[in-house]
Amino acid sequence: MRIDVLTIFPEILVSPLKHSILKRAQEKGLVEVKVINIRDFAYDKHRVTDDYPYGGGHGMVMKPEPIFRAVASLLDVEEDDIPGHRNLPSGVEIILLSPQGEPFTQEKAWDLARAARHLILICGRYEGVDERVRKHLATEEISIGDYVLSGGEVPALVVVDAVVRLLPGALGDGESPRHDSFSDGLLEGPQFTRPREYLGLKVPEVLLTGDHERIRRWRRKEALKRTLERRPELLEKVSLSGEDLRYLQEIEDEA
Ligand SMILES: C[S@@+](CC[C@H](N)C(=O)[O-])C[C@H]1O[C@@H](n2cnc3c(N)ncnc32)[C@H](O)[C@@H]1O
Repeated sequence: MRIDVLTIFPEILVSPLKHSILKRAQEKGLVEVKVINIRDFAYDKHRVTDDYPYGGGHGMVMKPEPIFRAVASLLDVEEDDIPGHRNLPSGVEIILLSPQGEPFTQEKAWDLARAARHLILICGRYEGVDERVRKHLATEEISIGDYVLSGGEVPALVVVDAVVRLLPGALGDGESPRHDSFSDGLLEGPQFTRPREYLGLKVPEVLLTGDHERIRRWRRKEALKRTLERRPELLEKVSLSGEDLRYLQEIEDEA
């Protein structure tokens, strides 16, 4: 996979891309991540990337030309020859990070990890980007939550991290994103590590038995319990087995 992040503050992205899973995935050749400075595509003397909003109002808006040009150079076409959404090569997504976008979810991360070949992420700043970028350039808009950040760099990192860790081979041996929260529609249950007792607080006995089937059942019930307590609406979307329904009944009885 190839990922290009377009920003006017490239330094913000440098360090997070150099650590842990993101670093390893790049070293293994699973993904190539490049950070592109939008300013390099502003051709006036002062390399201006923003301007006052038409119609008045506060703040500045990011200009369309440097962003269109940056994307054109990534697609290896002229800026007036960028293919429309339907004509983009398959697997290319041009994503505008925006608090007004589609909420980002684990499901969306899986979709991108499975289907995308080339992600181009556009980070806004100031009051946002010129509407023509949203309407005529971006194939989709993604929001990382119902709050407003100062820029799209942190949201872009969120998307990059969530997608890259799902690429086959990105996680270490024995690690699997399939057990993570949301992957099967539930929250993951509690985790424990050594020591088995700390300040009088003990690890649940079942985890020490070595009985894989008992441990699997305990974990499933705990995941259902946690989801019911914290995010009951998730249970409405997941298909529950007979075993799950029995555990839910037990959880209700125990409560
Ligand atoms: C200060 S925000 C602009 C907000 C815009 N004026 C509005 O009200 O929708 C500047 C940039 O930060 C990014 N951003 C802020 N919050 C975000 C969020 N929740 N999800 C994704 N991107 C976000 C976007 O790229 C946005 O263009």
